Amino acid sequence: MKRVRKCVFPVAGMGSRFLPATKASPKEMMPVVDKPLIQYAVEEAVAAGMTDMIFITGRNKRAIEDHFDKAYEVEAELAARGKLDLLELVQGIIPKHINCIYIRQAEPLGLGHAVLCAAPVVNDEPFAVILADDLIDGEPPVLSQMAQVYGQHLCSVLGVEEVPRENTRQYGIVKTDGGEPGVVSAIVEKPKPENAPSTLAVVGRYILSPAIFGHLAQVQAGAGGEIQLTDGIAAMMQEEKLLAYRFKGVRYDCGSKLGYLQATVAYGKKHPETGAAFTAYLKSLHG
Ligand code: G1P
Repeated sequence: MKRVRKCVFPVAGMGSRFLPATKASPKEMMPVVDKPLIQYAVEEAVAAGMTDMIFITGRNKRAIEDHFDKAYEVEAELAARGKLDLLELVQGIIPKHINCIYIRQAEPLGLGHAVLCAAPVVNDEPFAVILADDLIDGEPPVLSQMAQVYGQHLCSVLGVEEVPRENTRQYGIVKTDGGEPGVVSAIVEKPKPENAPSTLAVVGRYILSPAIFGHLAQVQAGAGGEIQLTDGIAAMMQEEKLLAYRFKGVRYDCGSKLGYLQATVAYGKKHPETGAAFTAYLKSLHG
């Protein structure tokens, strides 16, 4: 297997849990303090050495493409006003050597289908997948940790963490041999707590072998009537080694209102501009 250079960002989802905020703008553009979720995700991929960012988009997602493009009006205005620090910030959103590639998923047929849409661009290389909803504060960033695991084992790697048993129906759940990283022997999408093979949940970070595409092309609609990435992974696992890696870092489920608020507090507290004053404000609330 080769070096991981490509990262897929499935961003076609509707974001119904955040309506009305997501009625006309993508959920991935929701900011945590001052950066949209999708920018945190791209920065994580760039930090892990990826060079090709492949966005699987859909209707109402134009703002994502605009965010990573040159913004002539904004840049000219900032230059004219001498706001050079902000100009640098806007121009530096994405490094010059990075390619952004956009593919439309015409119908929301599921995460597995979204990943399959990337096949013509990924071809026969291993690749990463980041779900921008899962914002993970890790040092080094989680995808860098996983790229290292991949480099040692040269097989697919899933980012996993323990979740409370009552929450298993929100995740893909794996069973492993208990190693670190563990060899996965089963993976099930959103099992009921009583059926879950463990409480080890897949979160939104994957490094996958290109063999996944052949399997995704064949899986039938699964949980929720959608083509599930988990089902493709389950089929691939019969033929190839698959590891589950417990990442080091704190995950915020920004697909839920509570997780999003928690992320805002955590990132607000450590932001260079707001950190001190925001921390003092939070303390004052506790009396
Ligand atoms: C998706 C995957 C699931 C995974 C989760 C991580 O579910 O289908 O296996 O555990 O992301 O966030 P979703 O959150 O899109 O329903």
